[in-house]
Amino acid sequence: MVKLSPSILAADFSCLEREIKAIENYIDYIHLDIMDGHFVPNLSFGPVIAKYIKKVTDVPLDIHLMVTNPMEHIEWFSQYSPKIVSVHYEACHNLYRILNRIKELESKAFVVINPHTPVLVLDDILEYVDGILLMSVNPGFSGQSFIERTYHKIESLSKIREARRLNFEIMVDGGVSLSNAQKLVELGADILVMGSAVFRAEDPAQVCQKVKNIKVY
Ligand code: DX5
Ligand code: ZN
Repeated sequence: MVKLSPSILAADFSCLEREIKAIENYIDYIHLDIMDGHFVPNLSFGPVIAKYIKKVTDVPLDIHLMVTNPMEHIEWFSQYSPKIVSVHYEACHNLYRILNRIKELESKAFVVINPHTPVLVLDDILEYVDGILLMSVNPGFSGQSFIERTYHKIESLSKIREARRLNFEIMVDGGVSLSNAQKLVELGADILVMGSAVFRAEDPAQVCQKVKNIKVY
């Protein structure tokens, strides 16, 4: 069954607790988009949000670090025991060291690549990751349209995984909606991040249930 990680970047922060409560029974993670205004042209929020989310729900956190100094952020977020921490390939000079630290802190270590970064560059790290996050939009904002080339990237990554008998998970983030979710899962995606498609929907819980009901034959 596909896992679903709604991104609260698209939620209404004036009633965040209500937004989360409405969907918490149908989701696997809560995706936190951490933006520093340098790595991406936007600022979002910091660890304090993780603290308050922890107060209202037991749904595990999935932290997506869009920052130039991921190591520091990993430490700040570790007190909230995130289930997944994703760091950008483009932001890390010492990827092994960073992934080691994430694992030491008992989170799953994921590497993210931007839409323009080829899957090929991950070749020497695949044995070592818990997951790969493929960006299907340029990071920075919710509500952008899905970049079609991502289909091909999921397919090639999933073939490599099979050929090398690896079991890292494939997560897709950006422009994911009910209209492309089925295809993404069929091609090999294990975790879907959804921002506006969930939180801007009339009935967010229904959207989540539909995603969770996706079947691949
Ligand atoms: C983009 C973020 C995404 C975004 C997804 O920088 O990493 O997680 O919030 O939002 P949608 O699903 O609306 O594209
Ligand atoms: Zn994200």
